[in-house]
Amino acid sequence: MDKLTIRDFDPEGKRVFVRVDFNVPLEDGKVTDDSRIRAALPTIRYLMSRGARVILASHLGRPDGRVVEALRLRPVAARLSALLGRTVPVTGDALGPGTQDAVRRLRPGEVLLLENLRFHPEEEKNDPQFARALASYADVYVNDAFGTAHRAHASTVGIAKLLPAYAGLLMEREITMLSRLLENPERPFAAVLGGAKVSDKIKVLDNLLDKVDTLVIGGGMANTFLLAIGKPVGKSKAEHDRVDDARRLVAKAEEKGVRLVLPSEVVVAKEVTRGAEYKSVPAEKVPASWSIVDIGKASEAAFEEALADARTVFWNGPLGVFEIPSFSHGTKAMARYLADRAKAGVTVVVGGGDSVAAIDQLGLAEAFTHISTGGGASLEFLEGRELPGIAVLLDRQPTAESATAESPKAE
Ligand code: 3PG
Repeated sequence: MDKLTIRDFDPEGKRVFVRVDFNVPLEDGKVTDDSRIRAALPTIRYLMSRGARVILASHLGRPDGRVVEALRLRPVAARLSALLGRTVPVTGDALGPGTQDAVRRLRPGEVLLLENLRFHPEEEKNDPQFARALASYADVYVNDAFGTAHRAHASTVGIAKLLPAYAGLLMEREITMLSRLLENPERPFAAVLGGAKVSDKIKVLDNLLDKVDTLVIGGGMANTFLLAIGKPVGKSKAEHDRVDDARRLVAKAEEKGVRLVLPSEVVVAKEVTRGAEYKSVPAEKVPASWSIVDIGKASEAAFEEALADARTVFWNGPLGVFEIPSFSHGTKAMARYLADRAKAGVTVVVGGGDSVAAIDQLGLAEAFTHISTGGGASLEFLEGRELPGIAVLLDRQPTAESATAESPKAE
């Protein structure tokens, strides 16, 4: 990775502002999935144990610049305190004299969490004055919020221009794992993409078609591809205005010699609701008044066969209407299959969202090589774009050795 990290400065006694992504799901005032909090622990512990005064900051949800009581970070602080085994106080506001005072009183090795940054409209506007106020708390800035690295906000970009800015350990791991997919994946390299919409994934599909050997497509987005190759999709949700894009991507796969695998058998339901009647049919025989809700068994087998020799796999998005248990079989089967491949030594990287929920429900998270904490961020990264929250961090200067290795030799 070509960015400086927290290993590149001495944290002893310094006030370190750490942008984390604690945008986690809550229910009844409790965190229901703490994976993003746990993922930030190595950076927090590293800094605490080296005598830094740690000021954590995050957004939670989309309060649109207003105070929303249900989006206060108190439940997150409670979970973090339990994980760290010490109380992490949370301020009443990200700004103000009380917060300045709390920051001033922080001692080496202590941690403080600022209240939800997005209660201030200036955060998402990347307002320079807001960024300056945040920067005034600290000597050094650390970004460990990979999940928010695609947002150019005051706490991800503005502040990083005002303080020496380093990557946290989670940020480093995400960049390393995802770059490996784009730069030198062990081949064959396959991608499995699902989820509802093609429109969200066109750019990533375009970029991945230049990199992968095999592309497997399922979920709602496969319907648009089925239309593109002339198959009926009945009442299924499909993006009719994206059929041309899908057709172009099919042609690109052919041109590049990428094996493109679409569902050959699908599960169709009369209604996309719990308890609705459903059955499996070949993909060319979807009845006009039914909707595709999952991949069928024959597709599961064909997908697995297509992935059997892959040495690297990237997976993002469920293969069916995963929230409804009867239509979650394809997604769960893929989670189990890829967990087994990972156990057999294949590099399997999963991009955030519902595919991660499936993996968690099955208790398989440990099996995977890497599960990204970024949903939108991991997709934008794999589109080949430079994410603003990463671009702004300090670059590692090439050493004499790496410079010689990288530069072409003079004739
Ligand atoms: C996410 O959950 O993808 C990140 O926390 C970013 O959240 P946002 O989409 O509301 O900016």
